[in-house]
Amino acid sequence: MKPLLLNPAPAENKSPENSYTLGPLQSGPPCCEPKTLLSVKNLSLHYGDKPALKNISLDIYEGCITALIGPSGCGKTSFLSALNRLTDMIPNCHVTGNIHFNDIDLRAPNLDLLTLRRDIGMIFQKPVPFPLSIRRNIELPLREHGINKKSELNATMQQVLQDVGLWEEVKDRLDSPAQALSGGQQQRLCIARALALKPKVLLMDEPCSALDPISSAVVEDLIKRLQGRYTIIIVTHNLAQAKRIANYAGFFWVSERAGCLIEFGQCKQIFESPTHELTAAYVNGSRG
Ligand SMILES: Nc1ncnc2c1ncn2[C@@H]1O[C@H](COP(=O)(O)OP(=O)(O)OP(=O)(O)O)[C@@H](O)[C@H]1O
Ligand SMILES: [Mg+2]
Repeated sequence: MKPLLLNPAPAENKSPENSYTLGPLQSGPPCCEPKTLLSVKNLSLHYGDKPALKNISLDIYEGCITALIGPSGCGKTSFLSALNRLTDMIPNCHVTGNIHFNDIDLRAPNLDLLTLRRDIGMIFQKPVPFPLSIRRNIELPLREHGINKKSELNATMQQVLQDVGLWEEVKDRLDSPAQALSGGQQQRLCIARALALKPKVLLMDEPCSALDPISSAVVEDLIKRLQGRYTIIIVTHNLAQAKRIANYAGFFWVSERAGCLIEFGQCKQIFESPTHELTAAYVNGSRG
């Protein structure tokens, strides 16, 4: 894996052959031999003096889908935000502990955040396309990363829109406003926009919860098909969805006013034979 740059090369030095060759999406291999991609140790997070996360330690495995579940306010979004340093943008947010992405210390003060957020992309609950055309939504982040060649921009755009199953729906109106798309189409466009930057990790914060059931099923199917090619961490309140798509699951809970990780393991184990009684109560619907 290409390391995160602490001092990024100037855009014009970027290799022109750094083009995209994604084929049609297919589900990746099952995660039978997990390899740690992100390692989180003793992560704590405060907003001012209010604790939001306390001593979270877990490993995220390469190519797998990890679902984070737990009741509202237990710190799931805060956890995702710490992973790609969106927390840097929140005044009074203090993070302690260690996060490593392979060997890279993601908490290093001189880390190049543009590169970090290319490698670890974020998808939000409510799709947030830029108030621009469909085409410009895909092109803008690519241009920001120094890719300006028209043929490359077009090829990448077509590829990622195909990957999210949107190409046939939009190929005749690429210059129309992205905000004219339906909610589900907008969410797939946002995923395509993230994929255009060839991320290693996708953080998804309740990506289906603002969608109608049919669009939600389409996006869920897409996420499932990304497994193996990308490492995905998804926050969801939909336990059935977590069960359907995740390889691993982490259960968060609020204890002594701060979010903590109660249990982490293979998804099947968390849902079918949890070791902690709180996990059992939550997945069985009697708590939370
Ligand atoms: N910007 C902020 N400033 C102050 N407190 C915050 C901020 N963001 C979150 N919090 C607090 O931190 C705690 C964890 O919030 P967070 O949004 O991470 O929880 P969550 O598990 O994602 O909840 P939900 O399931 O409702 O999205 C909550 O008590 C919340 O009020
Ligand atoms: Mg949240």
